[in-house]
Amino acid sequence: MTAVLMDGKALAAKVRADVARDVAALGHVGLATVLVGDDPASHVYIAAKHKAATEAGIDARDVRLPADTSEEDVLALVDRLNHDDEVDGILVQLPLPGHLDETKVTYAVSPAKDVDGFHPVNAGNLYLGTPIHVPATPSGCMELLAAYDVDPAGKEAVVIGRSEIVGRPMAMLLMHANATVTVCHSRTRDLAAHVSRADIVVAAVGRPGIVNAEMVKPGAAVLDVGLTRTDEGIRGDVDASVASVAGHLTPMPGGTGPMTIACLLQSTLKAARYRRG
Ligand code: GUN
Repeated sequence: MTAVLMDGKALAAKVRADVARDVAALGHVGLATVLVGDDPASHVYIAAKHKAATEAGIDARDVRLPADTSEEDVLALVDRLNHDDEVDGILVQLPLPGHLDETKVTYAVSPAKDVDGFHPVNAGNLYLGTPIHVPATPSGCMELLAAYDVDPAGKEAVVIGRSEIVGRPMAMLLMHANATVTVCHSRTRDLAAHVSRADIVVAAVGRPGIVNAEMVKPGAAVLDVGLTRTDEGIRGDVDASVASVAGHLTPMPGGTGPMTIACLLQSTLKAARYRRG
């Protein structure tokens, strides 16, 4: 068997075109991103998010602060953006430099403008099954499953990784879609035993090739969210051998990554609508 590749690039292009149409109809939609310091990967992500937002007609404001900016100054900036009428969505790129308290900064963003869905009000609404802003990466995974008619209802789903950005919200979304969900993590005793039972696998730990063909159930849908820069280039959590066993597989690159950006734009549009009542 050779897996059907879930083309995140193509689906993202469609989502972005839909967002662009709706942004044009709405008039003005504003997104402010905040990047503190010089983490090279964060610079790449922010550049990609800006390019996509601008192409969708979103007024994207690129706020950059030096690595030694005080917490007080970052919080003051977030407060200004919270009260700025031109700004519908705010995204503070993570990770922040070590002297800044990520929790404090994330929690300072107004829940209505929190397009990342990291604020406890948004995390709580997702937990309760009444989501408003949902983290973009798991949203993108759900859109990919839907686009390829993989209905999670009644299926065994295994999420590898329990981060607040991907693993936990992913588990919630799959549970709300009526999957039976297992969350595996660094203390899981027998990862292969769990993965081998799964109809849907979402790998999000940043351990290259941790999911391999021997442990995947034939026909399973496998989504690769892990991304590690190695000397041989970018590697995902899913080994290439999985393509010969899985029913559906996200390519790396061109799978879940483009959908993350597309879902961020969707979330920004949602924030703009929400603010206009
Ligand atoms: N760092 C890695 N992923 C993300 C994300 O989705 N949003 C933000 N703000 N920072 C990140």
